[in-house]
Amino acid sequence: MDLGLKGKVALVTGAGSQIGFGKEIALLLAKEGCDAVAVTDINIDDCNKTADAIKKLGKKSIAVKADVTNQADVAALVKKVMDEYKKIDILCNVAGGIASRVPYDKAKPEDWDKDIHLNLYSIMLTCQAVLSSMREKKAGVIINIGSGSTRMYGHGAGNTYAISKAGVDTFTKQLAFNEAKNGIRCNCVAPGPAPTNFIPGPDKKGMIDMLAKTIPMGRGATQSDIANATAFFASDLSSYITGQILHVSGGSVLD
Ligand SMILES: NC(=O)c1ccc[n+]([C@@H]2O[C@H](COP(=O)([O-])OP(=O)(O)OC[C@H]3O[C@@H](n4cnc5c(N)ncnc54)[C@H](O)[C@@H]3O)[C@@H](O)[C@H]2O)c1
Repeated sequence: MDLGLKGKVALVTGAGSQIGFGKEIALLLAKEGCDAVAVTDINIDDCNKTADAIKKLGKKSIAVKADVTNQADVAALVKKVMDEYKKIDILCNVAGGIASRVPYDKAKPEDWDKDIHLNLYSIMLTCQAVLSSMREKKAGVIINIGSGSTRMYGHGAGNTYAISKAGVDTFTKQLAFNEAKNGIRCNCVAPGPAPTNFIPGPDKKGMIDMLAKTIPMGRGATQSDIANATAFFASDLSSYITGQILHVSGGSVLD
């Protein structure tokens, strides 16, 4: 099936992790037709490995070091990709994670800031940086990676990771509503637990297998489950869909 990705330029954040969603998304977009996939991460050594893997598929790629919580870094990142490829058709906001694990009763606002900056402000910054060029072309697709934690309440009050991802849901809808007239679509993929570096400790599979007991479909998410949903939103198959939160979590979140 032609996903309509031929000739497209994508930018994927958080693409350094060699077992993460970002790398899987970047490779799938390249395989499915994108001409160039620029990748970025705070960890440039790993990000270079992802760019090399994309080039091995016969597609163009550059790896750019950027901290997506830093406005100057994000501006420099987008400029670099625009200078190289002249456009960004698809932005995948994947970078994120749990930035603070301080319990609510002991936490300070500075602890809460960390999750909000990493998961919400980062996405607001990257979207802000690509908007003018997408508006000019009257076309663009943005996919934000959210989380099933927005619909789970047992991880303690003041779980700012979940709160920051709920902000991502709302921002996705706000952006989608306001930019639809400019030809820009924005959707969110909300993963269930998967064995990436997001899961702490060495036994990631063991942890996911334990969590899988509570998942209706009886297994955790794979990197490719999340990449497939992201590619769907990036593609023309979803050309009439915007402002949606798609939970890819084996039936854990139903709404
Ligand atoms: N794996 C899961 O179980 C799970 C579940 C729900 C949501 N998510 C979300 O999926 C997204 C991807 O995470 P993953 O599971 O692939 O984890 P991962 O840790 O394997 O990858 C995250 C990547 O983001 C990068 N990163 C972190 N902070 C950054 C910053 N400030 N600037 C630039 N890059 C930065 C890391 O270096 C890493 O390469 C995250 O937004 C996470 O919240 C993951």
